[in-house]
Amino acid sequence: MNYAAVLAGLPDAVIAVDGELRIVFWNSAAEVLTERSARRAVGKYLKELFPPDASVVRRLAETLATGESRSEPEGAVARGEHRPVPVSIVTAPLFGHDGTVEGAVAVLRDLSRIRQLESEVRRGETLAAAGRMAVGLAHEVRNPLGAIRGAVQLLRRELGPASRLAEYTDVLLTEVDRVNRIIELLLDLARPVQLRPVPLNLHQLLERVALLSEEAARERGITLVRRYDPSLPPILGDEDRLLQVFHNLVRNALDSMTAGGHLTLTTRVSLNPLFGKMDLGAGSRNMVEAQVVDEGTGMPDAVRARIFDPFFTTKARGLGLGLAICHRILEEHRGAIQVESAEGRGTVVTCFLPIAK
Ligand SMILES: Nc1ncnc2c1ncn2[C@@H]1O[C@H](COP(=O)(O)OP(=O)(O)OP(=O)(O)O)[C@@H](O)[C@H]1O
Ligand SMILES: [Mg+2]
Repeated sequence: MNYAAVLAGLPDAVIAVDGELRIVFWNSAAEVLTERSARRAVGKYLKELFPPDASVVRRLAETLATGESRSEPEGAVARGEHRPVPVSIVTAPLFGHDGTVEGAVAVLRDLSRIRQLESEVRRGETLAAAGRMAVGLAHEVRNPLGAIRGAVQLLRRELGPASRLAEYTDVLLTEVDRVNRIIELLLDLARPVQLRPVPLNLHQLLERVALLSEEAARERGITLVRRYDPSLPPILGDEDRLLQVFHNLVRNALDSMTAGGHLTLTTRVSLNPLFGKMDLGAGSRNMVEAQVVDEGTGMPDAVRARIFDPFFTTKARGLGLGLAICHRILEEHRGAIQVESAEGRGTVVTCFLPIAK
């Protein structure tokens, strides 16, 4: 039995050290996880590659000292320049013939995909709960609002067009209509809509959005760039709902680019390991990606964490419903939405949509 080959093929990272915490084995999953080749790792001391307080260093040192296994379900490991990868760590001692501890081995499992899926699910649940509350609230508020609107219209008629007070009744009407619009948006978020998915040409759809945004972009010194994959197959989607998605995303991108720049619309067949194939109930389908890429302000992590919350906004005149609605619509399509942002550099929003077979 070739044990080295078995270990090499494991999806989990396996790192073995001798009694001095010098690396003696580093499988290919460890190379992927740490972005460091075995050639550059084996023979080095663990502390040359990781900070001394890194979970994997601590756990291996403990195992060497005690001869006992250790496990850490919520560890992390640094990866080059990127942010640390969440991992679970299990260590075990390696005994020599005489029964003394000669070394130790650590098995690290990459949890980032699981974490991403978990946060997807949590986000969906928060939105669903917010939606249910919104429906209840909207029904309570809509009737009195209707009554107020009716009364104000009567008042305006009574006062006549010459009245000085007409100015006030106009304000009342505008504001009542604004509240009504917010409620409509909220209901949009909450009510289970009947999608009408048909095969669509995604490029034509994006062009309709681009056409409507061209003027606003020019005014702000923003150039629209298309990076369309000419061989992109038709997608399965609801045209009106998807227009709504891309309008929202393009509007956000424009809002973020206060000093001009490029707004890029990209399409491609997805090779994403997580969202590239989705189960639509009747077997899995391949997905396409549509990206809205801006060179705007980007967002700090604290903002990034809340962008899908209904009513979360950093804009003076924003409602904070745009992305919540996008999320909802993509969920209805059994697709997904992903946002990556670098503060000061820009934001990439990726929508995953099913291919029409
Ligand atoms: N492309 C982007 N660049 C930087 N920040 C963004 C971007 N897109 C969204 N955000 C941040 O996420 C927040 C929420 O966005 P969302 O579209 O849900 O609401 P909004 O744009 O504030 O209001 P509206 O309801 O009018 O869309 C924004 O206020 C902004 O802080
Ligand atoms: Mg918005």
